[in-house]
Amino acid sequence: MTDHASDTPQAAKGQGQAMWGGRFSAKPAELMQAINVSIGFDKRLWAQDLAGSRAHARMLISQGVIASADGDEILKGLDTIEGEIAAGTFPFRDEYEDIHMNIEARLRELIGPTAGRLHTARSRNDQVAVDFRLWVRDACDRSVGQLEALQKALLAQAEAHADALMPGFTHLQPAQPVTFGHHLMAYVEMFGRDASRFRDARARMNECPLGAAALAGSPFPIDRHQTAASLGFDRPTANSLDSVSSRDFALEALSAASITATHLSRLAEEIVLWTTPMFGFIKLTDAFTTGSSIMPQKKNPDAAELIRAKVGRILGSLTTLTVVMKGLPLAYSKDMQEDKVPTFEAFDALELALLAMAGMVADLTPNTEVMAKAAGAGFSTATDLADWLVRTLNMPFRDAHHVTGSAVKTAEGLGVDLADLTLEQFQAIEPRISQDVYAVLTPAASAASRMSYGGTAPAQVRAQIARWKEVLA
Ligand code: ARG
Repeated sequence: MTDHASDTPQAAKGQGQAMWGGRFSAKPAELMQAINVSIGFDKRLWAQDLAGSRAHARMLISQGVIASADGDEILKGLDTIEGEIAAGTFPFRDEYEDIHMNIEARLRELIGPTAGRLHTARSRNDQVAVDFRLWVRDACDRSVGQLEALQKALLAQAEAHADALMPGFTHLQPAQPVTFGHHLMAYVEMFGRDASRFRDARARMNECPLGAAALAGSPFPIDRHQTAASLGFDRPTANSLDSVSSRDFALEALSAASITATHLSRLAEEIVLWTTPMFGFIKLTDAFTTGSSIMPQKKNPDAAELIRAKVGRILGSLTTLTVVMKGLPLAYSKDMQEDKVPTFEAFDALELALLAMAGMVADLTPNTEVMAKAAGAGFSTATDLADWLVRTLNMPFRDAHHVTGSAVKTAEGLGVDLADLTLEQFQAIEPRISQDVYAVLTPAASAASRMSYGGTAPAQVRAQIARWKEVLA
């Protein structure tokens, strides 16, 4: 069919002449091509580009803008191209700059000059806008799925260890006993909000820019509602200038990704801490650790460290695209071609981090004895003593706090825990303290007593696990 193609004046200009080359008499400089070419990275949009082209072609046919026979030829050609890409035989060529012109050029080789009718009522500006939106929408959907898988891994561990005591920290100092299940469920909440941010972003971005054409809309009788519906969008975008010049849908997805990455990095940091022998709270198997080439005893939590670091790349992508977009006059500018690499990189990193974190969470085994022992250290039930003084002796909390402080000071001086003080020692501080006080001084009693909604009592933790299981079912 290449002979057909050479009938057109445009194609007659021969190899290397760009598709927009009508008014040009010389080829671009090599450096111009080097800075301009994007096929190396935007080939990742091939599926979205084909989907957009099919929706556009079908609409042009049903609106009578192009003849059915031409439209069918175009659709068949697009099928062939899809087969070639799937088979790895499609020629991605730098000389055709980007994915849009690579596909159109190949279509012309396959079906001849009819290929040129596909670009009626369309521009690369609305084409790339719809392709990229479709890609980001898919990325948001994938992130939601990966977040839910991670939540399920956390839920399984939380359910298995709903009663397992561990120290709860503030300032990374022992604060009050909590359960391991409760601690893990905190991340289930965070990742749940992350998933909802991706859902919100998706809902807001789900408008179709196709048909905005270059910037001003089209004089052809196109049906933008049809193309929007056929690509799964809720409606067409309502302003053609905005359609081709906005990338806030990507910024929003990247900010959701950045927040997710900060949550991942916090859990990763805890895994790093918990696996160090100084904590010894959890163990990872060989599957999620690496050894040292010099220190035979080492088992390093590299996956956790790399997840902790990914936030740099992901937040960097948000920064990159924000700076690219800042100060751009309406409508399209080529600056916007720089939207893809950071977005692809961010979601590649996020996907890997989410999958690795889910794997690592499923892999970990808590050392419940070590954690329970640590749960009682550092006078972690001091608040329980103060609360007991308030409840039993009707003391104002501030006074109870002071009495408890004295008890801690005494115990610390003797090198013992609060529960090891004798009744006489307690009564020397506050004569009304009775034997009952010992019941509230164990970490288990402390945790079990925190029955307020969302508290660490195992019964509360189980209720939240049950709720989340239903949400994620
Ligand atoms: N490769 C371009 C991009 O990614 C496609 C749009 C180009 N439009 C144009 N008028 N040069 O942004």
